[in-house]
Amino acid sequence: MMMTDISHYLKTQSHLIEEELDRLIPARHGPYQQLFESARYAILGGGKRLRPILTLTTTRMLEGNVQFALRPACTLEMIHTYSMIHDDLPCMDNDDYRRGKLTVHKKYSEGHAVLTGDYLLTYAFELLASDPHLNAEKKAQLITILARQSGSDGMIGGQVMDLIYEGQKVSLDTLRLLHRNKTAALITAAIEFGGIIANANPSQLDSLRQFGEAIGLAFQVIDDILDITSSEAKHGRSIASDIRNEKSTYVSLLGIEQAQSYALNFYNQAIKALKPLPYDTSFLVGLADFILKRKS
Ligand code: IPE
Ligand code: IPE
Ligand code: MG
Ligand code: MG
Ligand code: MG
Repeated sequence: MMMTDISHYLKTQSHLIEEELDRLIPARHGPYQQLFESARYAILGGGKRLRPILTLTTTRMLEGNVQFALRPACTLEMIHTYSMIHDDLPCMDNDDYRRGKLTVHKKYSEGHAVLTGDYLLTYAFELLASDPHLNAEKKAQLITILARQSGSDGMIGGQVMDLIYEGQKVSLDTLRLLHRNKTAALITAAIEFGGIIANANPSQLDSLRQFGEAIGLAFQVIDDILDITSSEAKHGRSIASDIRNEKSTYVSLLGIEQAQSYALNFYNQAIKALKPLPYDTSFLVGLADFILKRKS
């Protein structure tokens, strides 16, 4: 699929996700209306929606019910957004811009940013547990995947490593684990979600997981590159944040050129992982291309 086709596809899919997010987190009046205001501020009107789009795309590829995938897909965006709100806090990366706007703690306050993240995290699991379109077994499977991939052996563990290794030169293996946990885990969850919703068999799920891990790793290598090569206007967030925070990144370890070829290597692994699947994988390949070539 061409890059121009994929950008049209991304637009239509983002639109579906945004509409559902808008329905799931409506503005509310009352004593804690600010919670819904800050949550809507953080989650609506910005972001590539890559994780939920991966869920919709995987579900569609496996001929599952895309309508039923919409709400679970949005729970991934909630967990991702919570992780970004907390990642930007002064006690973490201390960044002022995200998705072309002030970060939540800059717009509101640190306390509200912590609570907005907590709300999105908690609400995501409430939505899965009460999803009217999923049977009990599928709910339990999705909840387990989401908790695991965003927990200690996933995003949170990765963020802890990210803090611990600030200012240190780490091995390539350590950096790979850091990135696998902080970024690839949730991206893998997005693909697994599609597999579960569309009843993939265990060997297909295994291929999907391998694809997810590989594009997730490619995604973070490119994120590290963009942190120094992009502009704030293009990227919509504070740049050179990694340098300021002395982060261990692929760029600090390998330099930009080698980091690029490292990303390409993960991309190739991802494409290979799709080979055994007896479906039309062109949209997942298109998303992998987008991940590698994106400029924001
Ligand atoms: C940024 O994620 C943070 C990482 C996990 C690397 P995205 O680049 O997907 O951010 P949005 O959702 O498009 O804003
Ligand atoms: C954050 O990684 C990944 C998370 C899981 C929160 P970064 O700190 O590199 O993300 P950006 O560059 O601020 O978006
Ligand atoms: Mg960070
Ligand atoms: Mg950051
Ligand atoms: Mg980054």
